[in-house]
Amino acid sequence: MKTQLKLTMAALAACFTFSAIAADATKSMRGLDVAAPDPVAAEKSYVGKRPGTQEPIVRTFSTQPPVIPHSIENFDEVTLEANQCLDCHGAANYQKKKAPKVGDSHFVTRDGKKLSEASAARHNCVQCHVPQVDAPPLVENAFQGDKLLKGGAK
Ligand code: HEC
Ligand code: HEC
Repeated sequence: MKTQLKLTMAALAACFTFSAIAADATKSMRGLDVAAPDPVAAEKSYVGKRPGTQEPIVRTFSTQPPVIPHSIENFDEVTLEANQCLDCHGAANYQKKKAPKVGDSHFVTRDGKKLSEASAARHNCVQCHVPQVDAPPLVENAFQGDKLLKGGAK
């Protein structure tokens, strides 16, 4: 009984100490009080210009969906019927449009079957490929991708 009581006291003491430390260390990464509402972020415009006028952006790791180096502002939204991205990047047109062809992985179904056109599972391009704005990282980090190892993962 005595040992049990001692153990309970020790556990309680540990809990109090831990919660005191945790409360001290709770600081929002946004710099605001945790309960304060988020301020609306300033709207930034995309840096890319017309397709065909810039270099692809170096990938950070080999299986990363490459980011979109050009503007997509004046393109129609990807819908069930229309996909302007494929007008330039699809297997049928990419040579004529001097655009990089959609990735090899796009011509394979989920169960590994080869297709002659890009898989429907890849239809919504912008779910994986995103245009860029010139913005500093929100949180400092020391991540170093492939590009430092092999002169750029491409
Ligand atoms: C008018 C033709 C055209 C259209 C439409 C177009 N692209 Fe591109 N895209 C290009 C060209 C050309 C490049 C090569 C880089 C450059 O010049 O901007 C490119 C580059 C890219 C890259 C970089 C590839 C790499 O290897 O780094 C991605 C990703 C991409 N486009 C995605 C898209 C998506 C998603 C859409 C639709 C929202 C789209 N593109 C619409 C022509 C086009
Ligand atoms: C589920 C995520 C996903 C979707 C959706 C997707 N992609 Fe990709 N894409 C990737 C990944 C990952 C890679 C890199 C691996 C590869 O090349 O297959 C890639 C590579 C590419 C490349 C570069 C190919 C190369 O050989 O360098 C182009 C261009 C591209 N995608 C265009 C598109 C277009 C256009 C669409 C819409 C029709 C699309 N992607 C939809 C994930 C995606």
